[in-house]
Amino acid sequence: MADEKDAVAQAAPVQAPAAAPAAAAPVKSPDEGTSRRGFMKWTLPVGWTALSAATASSLLATTRFMFPNVLFEPPQAFKIGFPGEFNVGEVDVRFKDAFGVWIVRDPDRFYALISTCTHLGCSPNWLDAENKFKCPCHGSGFYKSGVNFEGPAPRPLERARIVLADDGQILVDKSAKFQQEKGEWENPESFLKI
Ligand code: FES
Repeated sequence: MADEKDAVAQAAPVQAPAAAPAAAAPVKSPDEGTSRRGFMKWTLPVGWTALSAATASSLLATTRFMFPNVLFEPPQAFKIGFPGEFNVGEVDVRFKDAFGVWIVRDPDRFYALISTCTHLGCSPNWLDAENKFKCPCHGSGFYKSGVNFEGPAPRPLERARIVLADDGQILVDKSAKFQQEKGEWENPESFLKI
């Protein structure tokens, strides 16, 4: 019996399992090399540009940090010229935009009116034909002296310190202001007697 089994076993050859089909080799597209090169060709410059932009913006931020915004205001004290350069009876508007003052020359004195409305701070205009200052915001009116006479302005314009400098020029100093309602227009530095 055992011999029979051995005989059967020898008779039936063991079949090797069929070899698995070889993995298909990746098919290389003829364009692949070209498109990879194209990709690199465009990616590198874009990358460098982005890096440069980031570096530049970081440098700009650092520079702004080192040099912060500074508000440059006109000087508080400034010379406006010699007394003989002003006409008697006139309001000189040349210094309004740069320094915020009008220079008024009366027959016997000068004074510097600050061009800020005493209502809400707008900048009035000198109206030569009407011989008055008129505020465009709410209509306040001021005489040539600076005294208010119409509109909502509650008090006269303020005057700035005005003196003669060593070189003979008129010096206006806005850091010292004089208010009529406080009796400060009597202060000898609130006008310049000639
Ligand atoms: S701000 Fe000049 S009248 Fe109001």
